[in-house]
Amino acid sequence: MSDPTFKIETPRLLISYLQPDLDSYCNFLVALYNTPEFIASNGKTPITTRNVARRQLEGRFRAEHARNSYSTYFFSLRNPSNPSNLSSATPIGTVSLICGDEPKFYTAFDLGFTILLEYIKKGYTKEAARGLMEYVEREQGVKDILGLYDPANKASGTVFRSLGFVDVGLRQLLVFGPDVIGQVWVKKGMNEDVSVYGLPK
Ligand SMILES: CC(C)(COP(=O)(O)OP(=O)(O)OC[C@H]1O[C@@H](n2cnc3c(N)ncnc32)[C@H](O)[C@@H]1OP(=O)(O)O)[C@@H](O)C(=O)NCCC(=O)NCCS
Repeated sequence: MSDPTFKIETPRLLISYLQPDLDSYCNFLVALYNTPEFIASNGKTPITTRNVARRQLEGRFRAEHARNSYSTYFFSLRNPSNPSNLSSATPIGTVSLICGDEPKFYTAFDLGFTILLEYIKKGYTKEAARGLMEYVEREQGVKDILGLYDPANKASGTVFRSLGFVDVGLRQLLVFGPDVIGQVWVKKGMNEDVSVYGLPK
């Protein structure tokens, strides 16, 4: 997660690692994680100031990346006058592949995403999610990806449907907590018996 030049290019976006040393990235994370929409779907996080954001990016996010190969990425709008340049692109959202940690983990990654309100419904989240999924399949052969989310979050379901995922119903999600029941979707072509990925049958 430390290579500042790493990027995945999609038609309108650059997907990159989170860079704790950049104030702009830390400020963006604070803005993103404190919108009412984000808090409604993910709950409050400790990331309410730039310094906390920096510490979390250096610590938890970086450690998760090292441990599991994947974690959270930023996606940024390309600058039309310098489209491949990361530092002049505008961060607008995050996309992630998370699997939990020992002893609670899934054997397939869970795709997550969130975007600033002013950029919703323009297809950016779908483009970022597709870009990351295509990259991990092409570069690392990762094909199996889950979509786990709060059933009340209809927008998430629409994004997964639009990405071609299949709804397999509600399950207990122990990775997220003992009482968490979530909607479970799988990428098209995956086994719909999700017990093979460590979820309840
Ligand atoms: C959920 C969220 C990420 C969607 O982002 P977005 O950028 O608006 O999604 P996109 O523009 O890429 O839309 C992808 C598809 O979902 C549909 N969609 C997106 N939001 C929708 C909504 N609120 N209601 C109905 N459909 C919606 C789009 O119409 C599009 O469908 P199409 O491809 O068939 O045209 C965004 O609303 C958000 O960040 N919400 C707050 C945080 C959150 O809920 N994160 C998800 C946790 S799992």
